Amino acid sequence: MVMILGTLYNNGYLCPFSHRVLIASRELNVSIDTVYCADIPAAVRAVVPDGGWPVFVPSDGGEMLMDSSDIIDHLIDHSGDSGRNFRSEQEALAAVEALVACIRKVTMAGKPTIQREYRQKLDLALARVDEIRRGADGPFLGGDHFSQADCYVAPFLHRLPFMVEIRDHIPEIFIQEDGFRAWVDRVVNRPSFQEIAPKRYVLRQFYAENAKYGKPMKVGRLHHSGFRGMWADLSARVSGLEHRVDRDNHSLQEARDLCYLLFRTVALHAKFENLILFPALDAATGDSLFTVDGIEQHEHEVGEMNSLLELFDRALGQKPGSRADTLLVLATEVERVKEGQLAHLDYEEATFMPVLAELDVEQHLEMLRGAYEMCILERPHVIGVLTSYMPIENVLSLLDSLLQAVEPASEQWRQLLTEIHAYLTPEKWLRVVRRFEESLPTSLMVVPSGSRHGSFATAARALEAAVPVDRIEIPKAALHTKTGAFPPKD
Ligand SMILES: [Fe+2]
Ligand SMILES: [Fe+2]
Repeated sequence: MVMILGTLYNNGYLCPFSHRVLIASRELNVSIDTVYCADIPAAVRAVVPDGGWPVFVPSDGGEMLMDSSDIIDHLIDHSGDSGRNFRSEQEALAAVEALVACIRKVTMAGKPTIQREYRQKLDLALARVDEIRRGADGPFLGGDHFSQADCYVAPFLHRLPFMVEIRDHIPEIFIQEDGFRAWVDRVVNRPSFQEIAPKRYVLRQFYAENAKYGKPMKVGRLHHSGFRGMWADLSARVSGLEHRVDRDNHSLQEARDLCYLLFRTVALHAKFENLILFPALDAATGDSLFTVDGIEQHEHEVGEMNSLLELFDRALGQKPGSRADTLLVLATEVERVKEGQLAHLDYEEATFMPVLAELDVEQHLEMLRGAYEMCILERPHVIGVLTSYMPIENVLSLLDSLLQAVEPASEQWRQLLTEIHAYLTPEKWLRVVRRFEESLPTSLMVVPSGSRHGSFATAARALEAAVPVDRIEIPKAALHTKTGAFPPKD
């Protein structure tokens, strides 16, 4: 009969430190009882300090153990040969503990400055663990066998991609080092952990709800990444048009539609900045003129955008084959306006992002709701096009962020996803499906076939029909000089 070494009391099912103990007990082939949450006896609860879980009560009458590494040492001491084999050198344990400490600091920092500092430390800690991995001469930190140090870090590596604050800035090593990534997968997929590992959707939800900092403030930059992609495409479509065979309006019209969609999205984005974001930034800095250059740049953009669209229309009105001059001017103008707008995006990121990052989470959420309502009201048909130009990681971040502002079961959420569904490639949509499984309408779980991909013409016509405008316009910040109050809701 297997001897039970003691009882592990866990105050929650997601505790990574409990998971360490459970992995170790499986690896060491020793039995422990586990008791969760409300089943914990009052007598035990009374002696455990706040945040002191899990605790372990050995069945040999020994002292209660209150630290996962002490508990694991106890299990190792009671498991003979397998324990000796499992045990790691102090050096390896110190490296993984330092890594875990940095992960916790980054996610719990609350303040961007502290977060930045620990992100740098996190990179160093990851490099140190990787150094040990390389020196270990085998697939694990313990060399040829899964060791105590692998066990310590497995639950944290599993959750790393779901921690909002880290996922938005994935450490380089995950991108650069194949060997490191392979080790991460090996450790996380270890059967002793997989038996107890929390489901991904549970972690996603948990970390989304508990994110202290990081999510909503990325939205500005997310949109910018879409604009940059659209500009690159537009510029490729019109460059050298005057040298190509010019038989009909087809590709020119497509470029015009893309340009129109881009400008309406840019105008919406600028409207959001003028009316909601900039007043908040002015208030935060206490400088009523802090964003005044941004507003001026927006005003300048209006003129540029309208004349570029007029130029497109002029070219479309001319006879194919006899408009090489206009096409050359068009290509030159597209480049010029593009450079101007990209410079504006750079300016905003350099000037406003640091202030934006210091605002508290509630303010971000409030802005996010404002942005989202504008999108739904005014530009339902461009979201899909815009997201199709963003890197998929940004699309996922955008949806994550929006889930903070909108109910996953609502008509709005469905409409948004329907638009994105029409424009993402099957491969990208699959990533959305995997990540948002629990908040996706069943009808959208289907991966779109490449052929039914939405067209710019359809989106442009639908947009014109839904929200007709004669000229691109960006409303001024009516509240700009006031105290940074948000515009009234409804
Ligand atoms: Fe912007
Ligand atoms: Fe802007």
